[in-house]
Amino acid sequence: MGRKSAKSKEKKMKRKEETAKMAVALKKVDAANAVEDPIAPFPVFRKYDRNGINVTLETKRVDDLDEDTVNWIFQLTSSNMKTLYEQSDWGWSDREKREELTDSRAWYLLARNLEGVPVAFSHFRFDLEEGDEVLYCYELQLEKSVRRKGLGKFMMQIMELMAHRYEMLKVMLTTFKHNLEAHNFFRTKLKYEVDEISPEASMYEEDYTYLILSKSIPQKSASTSTSTKSKTSPLKDSNTTSTKAVSE
Ligand SMILES: CC(C)(COP(=O)(O)OP(=O)(O)OC[C@H]1O[C@@H](n2cnc3c(N)ncnc32)[C@H](O)[C@@H]1OP(=O)(O)O)[C@@H](O)C(=O)NCCC(=O)NCCS
Repeated sequence: MGRKSAKSKEKKMKRKEETAKMAVALKKVDAANAVEDPIAPFPVFRKYDRNGINVTLETKRVDDLDEDTVNWIFQLTSSNMKTLYEQSDWGWSDREKREELTDSRAWYLLARNLEGVPVAFSHFRFDLEEGDEVLYCYELQLEKSVRRKGLGKFMMQIMELMAHRYEMLKVMLTTFKHNLEAHNFFRTKLKYEVDEISPEASMYEEDYTYLILSKSIPQKSASTSTSTKSKTSPLKDSNTTSTKAVSE
């Protein structure tokens, strides 16, 4: 009897702790989603002028994008990814992909050239994943003309900076095992690891054609925590994190 009641007390405590943890995580996700312009604290990351490309970067909610940009986002995703989807057990559906890309929770990091033409984007969300607050990178898509010039890596650095700034525990993404370019990019170059919730981490891994990758984000110390009141200089913040979060 005594043992049983101690156990149930322990269970109750654990449930309470989990509920409290979830409430804190949700509060952070809501706070991140309420930010007007997530890239604003990182002015030096608004421009990328290297290796023969010159682009500016901006963050926008999907509902603030014009129709042409939304159509370009869909077309680029389709031309880069459709075959890879068809080679997986997911298959490709125009309708489903469009719905995902235009979900009202979607944020976009967009790179435009000097003429204002978009050349690369990332669709990302601040969200809860298994109770953890995360920045989930749904897509990172570049036009062929701007690949292998460091822009993809630069955009992932911005994701990691934003994750740090808005107190997300990690950056997560899903990638097909047969997308070897993405594998080289995320795993070898950017040091993303197979996440604990990836099917790869379970014993039935061969049944799956995709991996869930993640990178843990160093958390702010208690004294600099809670973004709006933080006295940390945004520039200092961005510089510190870029060396911390991106290990090359
Ligand atoms: C994958 C992708 C996002 C990479 O962006 P990128 O700007 O071309 O990559 P970077 O120039 O920043 O490359 C950084 C490093 O990643 C690795 N890498 C990138 N693309 C690679 C490729 N095609 N093959 C092998 N390694 C590659 C290299 O190590 C590279 O460094 P290096 O050029 O000095 O050798 C881009 O190629 C792309 O949009 N591909 C099509 C869409 C896609 O597959 N997206 C990922 C979905 S999960």
